[in-house]
Amino acid sequence: MQHARAPHLIVSRFLCATLALMWASGTWASEHFFDYQGSAFCAECHIEQYSGWQGTAHGNMVMTCEESLARALPLPEGYSCDDISYVVGGTGWKARYLDQDGFFITSTRDRDGNETPGSNQWNIGTQRWSDYHAGEQGKPYDCGACHTSGWKPDLDADTDGDLSDNQDGRPGIHGTFELGGVQCEACHGPGYTMLVYESAAFCGECHSREPLNKIQASNGYVRHQQQYNELLASPHERFSCVTCHDPHASGEASIVRQCADCHSSQAATYQGTKMQLAGVDCVDCHMPDAGKSGEVISEYQADVSTHIFRIRTDLNDQRMFTPDGEFVRNDASGVAKVSLDFACKACHAGQSTAWLSANAQQFHDTSFKITGAMSGTWWAGASRDGEGWLIDAAANVFVAAMYTYDGDGNQAWLMGTGTASGDMVGTTVEITDGPAFGSAYNPADVNRTAWGSANFLFVSCTEGTVELQPNEEMLARGFEAMTVNIERATASAVSCP
Ligand code: HEC
Ligand code: HEC
Ligand code: HEC
Ligand code: HEC
Ligand code: HEC
Ligand code: HEC
Ligand code: HEC
Ligand code: HEC
Repeated sequence: MQHARAPHLIVSRFLCATLALMWASGTWASEHFFDYQGSAFCAECHIEQYSGWQGTAHGNMVMTCEESLARALPLPEGYSCDDISYVVGGTGWKARYLDQDGFFITSTRDRDGNETPGSNQWNIGTQRWSDYHAGEQGKPYDCGACHTSGWKPDLDADTDGDLSDNQDGRPGIHGTFELGGVQCEACHGPGYTMLVYESAAFCGECHSREPLNKIQASNGYVRHQQQYNELLASPHERFSCVTCHDPHASGEASIVRQCADCHSSQAATYQGTKMQLAGVDCVDCHMPDAGKSGEVISEYQADVSTHIFRIRTDLNDQRMFTPDGEFVRNDASGVAKVSLDFACKACHAGQSTAWLSANAQQFHDTSFKITGAMSGTWWAGASRDGEGWLIDAAANVFVAAMYTYDGDGNQAWLMGTGTASGDMVGTTVEITDGPAFGSAYNPADVNRTAWGSANFLFVSCTEGTVELQPNEEMLARGFEAMTVNIERATASAVSCP
């Protein structure tokens, strides 16, 4: 995948100068300038990058058994460091173990050395063992291209009968490496090469699965190690990974650009909301743990943050994966979106998807939205005392009963019903008459007469405007069109969002 490597111009110039110097001073032949040196060598001149990188998972991908014990990782039941050559991973998500021949350990052992398949992968998120290729014999380590520096694969390991191209002569390791882990030289080239590759495709050589235009899924979660595939299906497709990440730092410290640096208007509308005050961050909704590396933590939370960013808000379009479950469902232009299950339910497991969808749409819209907090008694102030509105803003219907008088001064109830959309709701209004009061009441006697319309516009949970428009018949009966400002007459028992 050489296309991913577009070297930095300044570096090329630096390289030429170094080469010229070395050639002129006659050191060329005596020193191995392009041999792997190890990261400690680079630290002599690049201490800042070195000290940051030391804390990253990149540096620790392949470690000895003793190193893993120093980091408090457990060993599979019944195994000791005498049985284990290398521990793979164990920083971010999970650890797997290689035996002295370099093959994966696929079982546990009892006191007599009898093997029970499984419980051979340690998961960091859940602090539990699970099964990796349980009981399979002779599963080789052929993963070095992404986990080591200077990996040379031994592609005919099974047939060449030669152990010189297997790491430390261990038949189970199908290749050799210069250094364990993703060291400086895995990204900058060996020794004095010192090239810089800034493209997302470069990081994508390890952080992806083929083909790049699809995102693989399994058992209802995104498969791990696909940050590049996801980025390509995201709104940040043109970004490099280092737009947001410092490659020499780990975790939160690696984030050099916060979401709010670029999306200031969304950040401003989010500021001060209940969720923001409760500590819910942009990434909790936009980069939830939809990807699985170790073990699933809860139904809606695995353990790898997604780089899809966009959220699927439409209630009738919540399917995140293809019907066979093999891939994330991209649209025709390759765009992927995270479902509300992942975006919200890690925290709102008990909420219905309909409720979440209603609240997710136009999430960062600054204008006011009608919610259940509008329900209660409203009036148009002291100048219209004796008249009022009883409003019920339920989840999917808005009902407003206006208590007023007809043209002749008789008591009248105008009943409006509609569906709220944002800060507005248009209602269709009826009046009723017919049945007699009390024991003689007969619902069949109710006459429903169309009255016209009432449109409500709210600017807050306590203030709004209603525009009343009677139809011809009602105009003839003495009703008139009017617009009045209304306000709450009683304090709400529900807090306003
Ligand atoms: C003897 C000192 C020395 C050692 C050892 C050294 N470097 Fe450098 N490196 C430099 C100097 C000087 C520059 C040029 C500085 C500049 O361009 O700002 C440089 C430049 C670089 C750059 C490019 C910086 C840029 O801005 O484009 C990279 C990447 C780099 N070195 C990586 C490494 C790696 C990896 C190692 C270890 C294998 C290493 N260096 C070892 C002195 C050293
Ligand atoms: C995962 C790949 C990766 C690893 C590992 C890595 N670097 Fe870098 N390095 C980069 C990239 C990419 C850049 C360019 C960063 C940018 O443009 O923001 C960079 C930039 C640099 C620079 C230029 C100055 C700077 O910080 O931007 C130096 C010097 C450097 N790296 C040295 C090192 C040394 C020394 C190590 C090991 C201790 C190391 N790098 C490990 C990817 C890596
Ligand atoms: C040679 C393969 C390789 C390359 C190239 C590579 N990575 Fe990684 N990266 C890995 C592996 C393997 C892990 C998992 C390491 C672990 O958890 O033990 C990892 C883990 C990470 C992590 C999470 C762990 C942490 O410490 O925060 C980040 C972030 C990351 N890589 C970013 C990058 C970026 C950005 C680039 C490009 C500049 C890059 N990687 C290039 C192989 C690579
Ligand atoms: C194409 C590159 C690539 C290959 C091949 C690859 N991995 Fe990884 N692996 C990664 C990256 C990148 C990560 C971290 C990012 C992620 O998982 O999303 C990772 C993470 C891991 C982790 C978790 C590390 C930690 O610190 O928790 C383990 C364990 C692991 N891989 C084992 C393997 C094994 C075993 C194989 C071979 C059977 C393998 N990988 C092949 C790129 C690769
Ligand atoms: C370096 C600037 C930058 C950073 C940092 C950044 N974004 Fe973006 N984001 C953009 C740009 C540019 C677009 C593309 C806008 C477009 O295509 O209309 C975008 C698009 C988006 C979109 C889709 C917009 C739409 O209209 O559909 C979402 C969602 C998003 N970003 C969320 C985030 C989140 C969450 C973070 C933090 C993890 C983040 N962004 C970090 C610049 C940035
Ligand atoms: C509680 C979940 C949640 C949080 C927290 C959140 N967002 Fe969003 N965001 C959404 C939803 C849902 C959408 C989709 C809205 C739509 O499609 O109508 C969205 C849309 C966006 C968009 C696309 C453009 C737009 O306005 O619709 C951007 C950009 C964005 N968010 C950035 C951010 C940033 C930056 C933060 C942190 C300051 C943040 N979001 C916090 C849920 C959230
Ligand atoms: C728009 C900004 C942005 C871009 C671009 C971006 N990342 Fe990230 N990445 C983040 C943020 C923010 C986090 C931390 C998420 C969190 O806290 O849950 C993160 C986390 C990660 C992690 C750790 C995942 C985990 O579950 O801990 C890896 C690995 C990673 N990024 C790799 C990459 C790679 C590789 C690329 C390029 C293909 C890339 N990122 C591009 C913002 C970005
Ligand atoms: C990381 C956890 C977390 C995630 C993810 C999350 N929420 Fe919340 N949400 C909360 C908490 C905590 C509250 C309660 C805040 C309070 O009442 O103090 C809350 C409250 C709310 C409220 C009521 C707000 C109010 O002002 O009364 C709505 C609406 C809401 N969430 C919608 C969503 C939607 C939609 C999503 C997904 C797009 C989402 N949330 C994702 C934690 C989360």
